Amino acid sequence: MQKRVAIVTGGIGGLGTEICRQLAKAGRTVVAVDLPLRDERIAAFHAAMTEFAGAVTFEPADVSDFDSCEQLVQRVEATHGRVDILVNAAGITRDTSLRKMSPQQWHELMRVNLDGLFNTCRQVIDGMSARGFGRIVNLSSVNGQTGQFGQTNYSAAKAGVHGFGMALARETARKGITVNTVSPGYCDTALVAAVPADIREQIVADIPVGRLGSPADIARAVRFLTSDDAGYITGANLPVNGGYFMSF
Ligand SMILES: NC(=O)c1ccc[n+]([C@@H]2O[C@H](COP(=O)([O-])OP(=O)(O)OC[C@H]3O[C@@H](n4cnc5c(N)ncnc54)[C@H](O)[C@@H]3O)[C@@H](O)[C@H]2O)c1
Repeated sequence: MQKRVAIVTGGIGGLGTEICRQLAKAGRTVVAVDLPLRDERIAAFHAAMTEFAGAVTFEPADVSDFDSCEQLVQRVEATHGRVDILVNAAGITRDTSLRKMSPQQWHELMRVNLDGLFNTCRQVIDGMSARGFGRIVNLSSVNGQTGQFGQTNYSAAKAGVHGFGMALARETARKGITVNTVSPGYCDTALVAAVPADIREQIVADIPVGRLGSPADIARAVRFLTSDDAGYITGANLPVNGGYFMSF
């Protein structure tokens, strides 16, 4: 069998980098997609991936822009022939209470965290359907499940991620495509490092497992859901939160 080809959006981010690593370890050809960032960050990403000898490459694209995503998938298909796996890990926060939130803070976040799913999934499902195989994993958040103060925009978008996924899962299930959500809890990444120390300590105290999640905790869940073996799991949400929020 040919190597599966994976696109990981937000692929240079805290979780995205580890997702790229885990997928490469699983033998995938991985295309990390992110904004055209500063050269140092891209160089650091490549340095972190040297062990995979060319199996992980970088492609710039803006997930909030439909045309950019269309061109991205055309480039990946031209180089690698197809896209089998799509992981949407690009995401931003624009935290502030609703009474202070500007329309710009609302719309900027929606364009990346929610429009981004439409813009990327729309480009890959025809090819996946034609080949009878696809794995899509979208990153949500525990804060989409519980709501969070100062995050009406983020919580709304992250809850929407799972609604989008369930609907797309129904549309594509007969074509061999699975669409699932991974909902990380609080992880040891820059996003959480930006939270004030006293609040971070309180968060850790409230996590039954007693620590923040590691990027690898999240990436291993993504690796499993994108494996060929996970074909009977679709429309599911997999919380990876150390027991911080339990539900069924
Ligand atoms: N870190 C956590 O604790 C945590 C918890 C819950 C959910 N999440 C979610 O997991 C995902 C990854 O989080 P992270 O911690 O790696 O964040 P991060 O900020 O480290 O990485 C996100 C990446 O997305 C990229 N990005 C932003 N806008 C983009 C755009 N328009 N087009 C392409 N790329 C864009 C950024 O450049 C960045 O590299 C996000 O969706 C986030 O909401 C993270």
